[in-house]
Amino acid sequence: MATAMLELQGLNFNLTEEHLAVQEAARDFAQSELLPGVIERDNEQKFPIELIRRMGELGFLGMMASPDYGGGGMDTVSYVIAMEELSKVDASASVIVSVNNSLVCYGLEAYGTEEQKQKYLTRLTSGETVGAFCLSEPEAGSDATSQQTTAEDKGDYYLLNGTKNWITNGNSSGICLVIAQTDREKKHKGINCLIVEKGTPGFVVGKKEDKMGIRASDTHSLLFTDVKVPKEDRIGEDGFGFKFAMSTLNGGRIGIAAQALGIAAGAYELALKYSQERRAFGKQIFDHQAIQFKLAEMATKIEAARLLVYKAARLKDERKDYVQAAAMAKLFASDVAMWATTEAVQIHGGYGYVKEFHVERLMRDAKITQIYEGTSEIQKLVIARELIR
Ligand code: CAA
Repeated sequence: MATAMLELQGLNFNLTEEHLAVQEAARDFAQSELLPGVIERDNEQKFPIELIRRMGELGFLGMMASPDYGGGGMDTVSYVIAMEELSKVDASASVIVSVNNSLVCYGLEAYGTEEQKQKYLTRLTSGETVGAFCLSEPEAGSDATSQQTTAEDKGDYYLLNGTKNWITNGNSSGICLVIAQTDREKKHKGINCLIVEKGTPGFVVGKKEDKMGIRASDTHSLLFTDVKVPKEDRIGEDGFGFKFAMSTLNGGRIGIAAQALGIAAGAYELALKYSQERRAFGKQIFDHQAIQFKLAEMATKIEAARLLVYKAARLKDERKDYVQAAAMAKLFASDVAMWATTEAVQIHGGYGYVKEFHVERLMRDAKITQIYEGTSEIQKLVIARELIR
């Protein structure tokens, strides 16, 4: 079966041998190591700790980070290729990869000091631990400037107090990037980002969320009570925290767009295969035009999503403005994921509604891609602002 990826190559999309090798490695790992336990992990909400270590060994956790810090030194296109393949099979594992790569590792490498990179980045690229990006709060989701967590300036340290919500890798992360308000009068210009390690006194992991999808990723609230964070663990200048969060999320959105693409493509591939196995009314269901039309439309929309994801990745690699392209890719790919997974369940009929056939999980997993790292509504806002900038 010719893959859509190779069609892109046929269009001279400048995919290199290295890109194709990354695709093959990610696909092999997903099929041989992620697939076998994926239903059980979803059922039991079991964080795939051993698989995280493996992904560290295979280089999936710090793909774009510099080799100086144990990273793969790869481009963003390689990263989205890997994200697509991992997400076809296990979106819980791929969100761990996405947050670690494009929010935590990228954020540290782009804006951290040399000491911060030496101290934290190597641990994150190797899989020794994973990172968490702590922006959301009980009352600050889309409205991210209204931070209630405070980082009071105490001279040579900050005193951190507050609660963060819906934090991916909340329990398993060893290194957290925490956004907090230092000077309320300065509004978003008075916000800082602090690096806080697990085990720091006053830092407690709160409730685990019982989620609709990506159930094997651990999503928790995090509680900070009089946590002392040394000034050298602040990222950037005083007041840079909100800009840091926004700039980092621009790239994060490419990762989530690639995740959505993978979820859609995974469901499509399963539906295509099933349509050639299942018979009804004396022939393969693929031979019924109703099913052909669904698959044709799925293939078309997935290809369009892929082009948007690659475009955003390519712009980032070429150091061009990718804010709008990333938002468009996430907006479109997440809608395609939700729609295509629903169609895949429909093609599978009753089998689609049971866990064994995987598509119901992909449908549940798809929904979060319209919500996290900026809801679809926030992506539209970002796109619209860029239209008149
Ligand atoms: N890139 C860079 N800078 C940006 C930016 C962007 N995309 N968007 C805003 N900024 C900057 C602005 O330039 C401005 O800086 P200056 O004052 O220096 O010019 C500053 O940020 C404030 O911007 P606004 O005045 O536009 O702020 P706003 O409150 O009107 O809107 C928003 C900002 C775009 C709505 C923002 O709050 C937002 O993106 N919200 C969504 C938050 C989000 O994505 N949360 C995801 C949680 S993390 C997560 O999900 C991770 C996970 O675990 C999977």
